[in-house]
Amino acid sequence: MQTANTRLLPFTECISSSRPQWRQVLRVVTWFILLMVASSSTWADSLQVLHWWKSTSEHKAVDFLASKLAQENIVWRDAVIPSGSGVSAGIVLKSRVLFGNAPEVAQLNGVLIGEWAELGLLLEFDAVGSNNKWDKILFPSVWALTQSKAHVVAAPLGIHRINTLFVNRKLFKKYDLALPETWDEFEIAAKKLQQAGVVPLAQSSEPWQLATLFETLVLSEAGAGFYNDIFVKKEQSGFLDPRFGQALKRFRSMKKWMAAPVQDRSWNELARQFADGGAAMMVMGDWVKAELNAWGLATDVGFACMAVPQTENYHLYDIDTLVMLAGDGSHKAAQEKLAQIVLSPAVQGDYNQIKGSVPVLRNPDMSKMDSCARTSWKLFARGSAAQVPSLAHRMATDEISKDAIIAEIYRFFMDDQITVSDTQRRLGAIARSLKKT
Ligand code: GAL
Repeated sequence: MQTANTRLLPFTECISSSRPQWRQVLRVVTWFILLMVASSSTWADSLQVLHWWKSTSEHKAVDFLASKLAQENIVWRDAVIPSGSGVSAGIVLKSRVLFGNAPEVAQLNGVLIGEWAELGLLLEFDAVGSNNKWDKILFPSVWALTQSKAHVVAAPLGIHRINTLFVNRKLFKKYDLALPETWDEFEIAAKKLQQAGVVPLAQSSEPWQLATLFETLVLSEAGAGFYNDIFVKKEQSGFLDPRFGQALKRFRSMKKWMAAPVQDRSWNELARQFADGGAAMMVMGDWVKAELNAWGLATDVGFACMAVPQTENYHLYDIDTLVMLAGDGSHKAAQEKLAQIVLSPAVQGDYNQIKGSVPVLRNPDMSKMDSCARTSWKLFARGSAAQVPSLAHRMATDEISKDAIIAEIYRFFMDDQITVSDTQRRLGAIARSLKKT
């Protein structure tokens, strides 16, 4: 897009060659024209977008989307509520909607999309979906997520993989350690690292970050069927099952590999500790990869991106999605344009490369993917046998159930006096009361 400044450049250049008495006049005229051009180049519309992305790579991803929107003459008005996994952003969004001050666009992931659509809060943009053949280009499970009652209500951006283990290659090389593919190998490496004075596992006590680790342990312990029984279907018997007890035990036993006491730190602070060699491993969604890349650490060189032990056949997923708030309909054209931009193949390729996620498309540009992204995309493409919805990132169940389960997991982790069987009983009771009959 040509800007006002570049358009006027030849004119300003000719000023310098004019006689002094004319220079002043020309300068005034130039500024006057510049002012006119600036005020006449009005934007078609502007959209306020509420999201929670504030880290280096997240910021870059937002800037990228805003620049694509600007090319369509639409201003992205940023309403960022920084909060890992969007905890506070969700609260602010709800209160703004309740007070009749909703933004035009919001980041809303997973099960919430359907709930908000049922309340009539979301704009339906079926024509964008049908004109761009979303039913054909999207992964079937993603296509299902974007619809409510057969209407298109969401524009998915990218798919993150949660069961990712990041390994600091420099430290592993220094201490001559093998990349851990099993829990036994993990324990061997962790022990040696600790003896050498290195924190084996970077971990925060933020409830959502603890839940992110714990859900990967459940998957590792008992597989996708069991995981779905407890976190999606909320089967009471699942929470009482010995396999769930085992996952809790491993969760607690991993505490010894973390810095003591485990502190409440943001995920990107921990990624920084990991990048600087202050911790050797980290279990977190692959947005950490994007952050490490943004700081100059290359995938496969500075760090290894692996599956959490014994989860390599699963893609524990989290899908970042934008919804358009219905409002009075006055921003419909701009909102539809944003939805269309988000799913254009070129934007999908570039955006996901910056964000660390993978395209939601069945046929994406693979050249934009590193080894970590390729593994993630190929696994997700296997379909329902591999895809497992993240509890912590709102893909598995409603907000109230998620929060109730995470609160118990958090209590268990923080207080060593709480027993495994107590926690199982409490969660079993919660499941019984939450389960829809
Ligand atoms: C997730 C989100 C990611 C990333 C992460 C950390 O829920 O899907 O894109 O932002 O939270 O805040």
